[in-house]
Amino acid sequence: MADAITPDMTIASVTERWPDTARIFARYGLGCASCAISKSESVLQGATGHGGGRVNVDELLRDLNTFAATGKLPAGLPDASAVASGGGGMKVKGMAEQKGIKSVIAVMSGKGGVGKSLVAGLLAVGLRRRGMSVGILDGDITGPSIPRMFGVREKPGVAGPNTLKPSYSKGGIPIMSMNLLLPGEEEAVIWRGPMVSGAIRQFFSDVAWGELDYLIVDLPPGTSDAPLTVMQALPIAGVVLVTTPQALATMVVTKAVRLVKQLGGDILGVVENMAYVSMPDGSRYEVFGPSQGLKLVIAANAPLMARIPIDPEIAHLADTGGIEQYVSPEFEELMANFLSVAPKVPQPA
Ligand SMILES: Nc1ncnc2c1ncn2[C@@H]1O[C@H](COP(=O)(O)OP(=O)(O)OP(=O)(O)O)[C@@H](O)[C@H]1O
Ligand SMILES: [Mg+2]
Repeated sequence: MADAITPDMTIASVTERWPDTARIFARYGLGCASCAISKSESVLQGATGHGGGRVNVDELLRDLNTFAATGKLPAGLPDASAVASGGGGMKVKGMAEQKGIKSVIAVMSGKGGVGKSLVAGLLAVGLRRRGMSVGILDGDITGPSIPRMFGVREKPGVAGPNTLKPSYSKGGIPIMSMNLLLPGEEEAVIWRGPMVSGAIRQFFSDVAWGELDYLIVDLPPGTSDAPLTVMQALPIAGVVLVTTPQALATMVVTKAVRLVKQLGGDILGVVENMAYVSMPDGSRYEVFGPSQGLKLVIAANAPLMARIPIDPEIAHLADTGGIEQYVSPEFEELMANFLSVAPKVPQPA
């Protein structure tokens, strides 16, 4: 008889028809079988994209199909209530504590090129200046730009079996990025979604980050696989959304708001980047049109943390690896607002 459950079926359709299979998925590290992401993820994608790609797809399918055919569950499964109440998410939450990371913050936008990496970099620089320990996980596997912004080229070292040491910026910020692992900066990574997801997970779990107050995660653009994976697989305490004032960017960021909310995430605030250019006469020229900040605040139900102008100094410093030198009143405002909404990290007395 043909198997009732095939690798191309979505996890959601399987758990809908056979609710107890959520417990089988949970046993294989797919504890999120009942959350929003499973609606689009197939059994095969789930198995190859999670658990660092170490899930045995054949065994998972065998267990699922045995249950579908006989109603018999394998022994030693997690409790049904633990799965229904989001057992996977809870496991994820404990991950950060285990690693000594107090708060993981994701920087996201629906659209590319709006300044996510810049904002991720600035948040890290600002926190570091305020004496906090902060790292940056460059989650943009196929278009990593954090190392260049910080002028970091040194390859990550080996910290132990299966564990990498991050590279360090001049100011002492630990950074992990695909760019640091490639032989050349221009090398292209042509990977499918599940491999990208696996790499992001490993950048979190298999890197010796040390004790961190904040780990800033720079996400790839869009609302596709990779940002979804990060939201689901990493213990994200809050999301900062970045956009430009263009109506299109605003529409796309509204999509990102929906995605974060659907996954149960917390939007800390919105940053409007490239908001205007300061003219020599002191006026402001709004290159991309008037601010869409209010719309975003309503859509995200979160504060506008800053309006950052188009600043040639930013472009120059980001291109030459000197972002740690950047100072501006808008940057100060961004940090003050970020700190007022960010999860508080307990400081030693
Ligand atoms: N406010 C600004 N003033 C001047 N240049 C800026 C500003 N913000 C970003 N840039 C420059 O614009 C480019 C795009 O910014 P960035 O790489 O941060 O965007 P991104 O959203 O991360 O892009 P991607 O979607 O490709 O990851 C970079 O070269 C950056 O230095
Ligand atoms: Mg980027």
